[in-house]
Amino acid sequence: MRTPGPENHAAIRRVHLEAFPTAAEADLVERLRLDGDAAIELVADRAGDVIGHVMLSRMRAAFPALGLGPVGILAAHRGQGVADRLIRKALRRAREGGWRAVFVLGDPAYYCRFGFRAELAAGFDCAWSGPYLMALPLEGTMPATTGRIDYAPAFAELG
Ligand SMILES: CC(C)(COP(=O)(O)OP(=O)(O)OC[C@H]1O[C@@H](n2cnc3c(N)ncnc32)[C@H](O)[C@@H]1OP(=O)(O)O)[C@@H](O)C(=O)NCCC(=O)NCCS
Repeated sequence: MRTPGPENHAAIRRVHLEAFPTAAEADLVERLRLDGDAAIELVADRAGDVIGHVMLSRMRAAFPALGLGPVGILAAHRGQGVADRLIRKALRRAREGGWRAVFVLGDPAYYCRFGFRAELAAGFDCAWSGPYLMALPLEGTMPATTGRIDYAPAFAELG
């Protein structure tokens, strides 16, 4: 698990093109980098090849907050805890970096294992508000439970 360099960007794109039905997530990763919103990125390697990738991007909020995603693992390497380790390490980096909370838009059945809770995000006003928007405080409690939060502008392209 390591921070990728520019020489890994093509391989990361290939991971997301395989992991998702369209190029939207692969494009999103590149746009977030171009916009300077990619705060934390990690890749997993096997035999010298990138097989998984996670990104945390800056959100617009009244406190230092990151959005988790996308996360993609090549199909041949799923079910072995790769995403689990990538996500946990990325969250540790976020905590060490002084970020106060991480939001994710995803399946509660998966993300609750990391401590994400929909009820912690429910009071926020966000374009993606709903049962799939979850929050994780990085230092005990959420710095706020209401207010406006926005994902980085690149997410608006996802529709
Ligand atoms: C979701 C994904 C990142 C998980 O990667 P992984 O390395 O296989 O994950 P792990 O091995 O750490 O965890 C596997 C567990 O996650 C569960 N899981 C995977 N996708 C899930 C989903 N959408 N909803 C609920 N559980 C899910 C598996 O059932 C398995 O459960 P178990 O631990 O109880 O057996 C991978 O399947 C993937 O790249 N999928 C396509 C892209 C995607 O949907 N990304 C997430 C949204 S951004």
